[in-house]
This record gives sequence, C-alpha cells and structure tokens, in this order.
Amino acid sequence: MKGLILSGGKGTRLRPLTYTHAKQLVPVANKPVLFYGIEALKEAGISEIGIIVGDTKEEIKQATGDGSHWDLNITYIEQAAPLGLAHAVKISEEFLRGEPFVMYLGDNILKSGITSLVEEFQQKKPNSLILLTEVANPHMFGVAELEDGRVVRLVEKPKKPASNLALVGVYMFDTHIFEAVKAIKPSWRNELEITDAIQYLVEHGYEVQPHLVTGWWKDTGKIEDILDANRLILETISGSNLGNVDDTSRINGQVVIEQGVVVKNSIIRGPAIIGEKSEIADSYIGPFTSIQNNCKIIHTEIENSIVLEKSEIVEVGGRIDESLIGREVKIFKCPSKPSVYRFMVGDKSEIGIK
Ligand code: TTP
Repeated sequence: MKGLILSGGKGTRLRPLTYTHAKQLVPVANKPVLFYGIEALKEAGISEIGIIVGDTKEEIKQATGDGSHWDLNITYIEQAAPLGLAHAVKISEEFLRGEPFVMYLGDNILKSGITSLVEEFQQKKPNSLILLTEVANPHMFGVAELEDGRVVRLVEKPKKPASNLALVGVYMFDTHIFEAVKAIKPSWRNELEITDAIQYLVEHGYEVQPHLVTGWWKDTGKIEDILDANRLILETISGSNLGNVDDTSRINGQVVIEQGVVVKNSIIRGPAIIGEKSEIADSYIGPFTSIQNNCKIIHTEIENSIVLEKSEIVEVGGRIDESLIGREVKIFKCPSKPSVYRFMVGDKSEIGIK
C-alpha cells in the first residue's frame, strides 16, 4: 500500500502565516504538523509516500527531503493549482500505479494514528474506507449519512446536515477511485471534491466502509485548532532538560528544555517545550506553550501559545494568552513617553489589546 499526503492548498484561513510559509510546516509542540502524518503512515507500515505540493513546494521539499530521515521514500507530485482533494488524487494516478493507498491531509493529526485502520482496510478490502467523527458544527465539514452502518450519502459543508458525522482527513481507496475522480465535475467553488468522488463510488455499487474515530482528531487549518492540537500533544510529553536553568528559576510539571536553552529567574509551568538556543529571562511561561528555537522571551508572561523561531518578546506588560506568533516577530515595550502603541504588522494580522 502507498501513501498520498496532501500538502498543497491555499491556507487562506491561516493568513498571514501562510503568505510566507506552508501551513503544513507550522509546528505543533515544536514539530511540523506534516511530520505527524508522515510518521503515522510510517508506523502503519507504508514506505512509499507521495506528497502533493503547490506554491510552497520548495519549503516542503527542504523540510522533508527524500524521506531517508524516516527510512522511507518520498516522491513529490506538483499540483499546478489547488483544484481540490479529488484533483490531487487524479494527478497521482501514475505514482500510485494500481495500488491501494491511504490519502492523508497534511494538516491533520490523529491521536491514535492510522495503523489499525490500515489493517482493517487490508483485511476487509472494501473499495474505500472513510473515517468519521462526531462534531458539533457539521455544516463546516464534509458530512456522511449512514444507513444500517453503510455510507449512503456524502455532502460537502451541507446547509442542513443530515448527521453530525464529519469526514476526518484520512481516506483509503483502491483503484476504483480513479474512475470516480475522472467522472466528477468541479463544484461551485471550482474544486474536484473528494466527497463527490466517494459519492460516485456509493452510487456505482462500490463498497464504502465507514469507521468512527474515537480518539481526538485535529484539522489544523485554523489558529484555534493549532493551539488545541498543541495542547493535546503537549499533554503527552515527558520533561527533560538539556539546557541551562539557573537557581532562581522554577520548572514545574513536564517541560522539555532543549540544547543551548538558557533560563534565568523565570517560572516555567508545563506542559511546555522550549526549543534550542532560546533564552527565557525574568519571565513566566505557562502551560501548553511551545517556544521554538532561537527565541528570546524577556520580562514577559505567556501561556497557551506557540512562538515560532527567532522571535523576541520583551517586556510585554500583560499576560500573552492563546496566541500564535510567527517567525522573527518582535514584540516589545515602547519608551514610556509618549505613551503609544507602535505597530508594523503585515496584512491580515490580528492584534488583541486590552
Ligand atoms: P484545506 O484545508 O481544505 O484547504 P486549503 O489548504 O486551501 O486551506 P483554506 O481552506 O484555509 O484556504 O486542505 C486540506 C489539505 O489538503 C491541506 O493540507 C492542503 C491540501 N490540499 C492540496 O494539497 N490540494 C488541494 O487542491 C487542496 C484543496 C488542498
């Protein structure tokens, strides 16, 4: 079985970060989201992976390379424009060459991985296996309708959802999916929808088996979901200290302190992770915070947040909470007179002020 990871797309919901970087490389607990997917496929015994890439292809290729880091083979498949999940399947036919495959959305994380699902698919051999999970807001997802445990209908973001079962971003298919992706037409948003392709399978008598996911699943396409995923992953870490923590500092709970980190006169309350060569001084780092490499957090309080590499946060008066701070960002206190705020902020940024 092969793997197909979708790592193209537009990432409009994560602007401004996605103006300059791939959303699949946003780190969750200091590891790019995409790596969780690669590792889930690897764990399920899949060693040939195709990665769909778009505008951010160079960055993705640089981060994942040829796959040797995970002892697997990665092939890049370029999608000229993000024309839909089913379009990504269509252009991968040659790579997949008649083999069944797992399609994995590169911005998704599943707590329990996919190993048992791949086994189920290989044993029962349906034409497709789809993952479903109960959600509170089904109108925002692809939704499945079941009858007697069988999938009878799929609708993309329905106005009046017939169930609360949303499609999770992992699908398994045999070769009949190519018949489907060639037959369907683009939707109103000009995308070839995977829900339409699966609906085609259902209508043409192919077996589409549903599987209800019980552990957590996160689509990290929006900031709240990235912070949630960060929280859920940090909950599972064990603390370690490879840095330099002075006697006036206190580390509570599970905190990963990487090589070259310096902590002075600060409190870090886990779960949290501090990336290589970052400096934390006179600060409070609260639970569920990931600070990436080469950051400076000075005289600042921060929790439930992610700070990307080389950012500096210095003397921010209040506590920073639920924030996603990009790369090489500087947040600092202005001189006391005149008493002003000073911003240089990119398009589509969001700043909350008390
Ligand atoms: P989405 O999150 O549905 O789409 P998007 O990345 O364009 O984001 P937004 O809605 O915020 O604009 O895509 C799910 C995953 O599939 C994501 O990793 C991007 C990838 N993808 C492709 O590789 N090709 C495509 O044509 C599309 C639509 C998505």
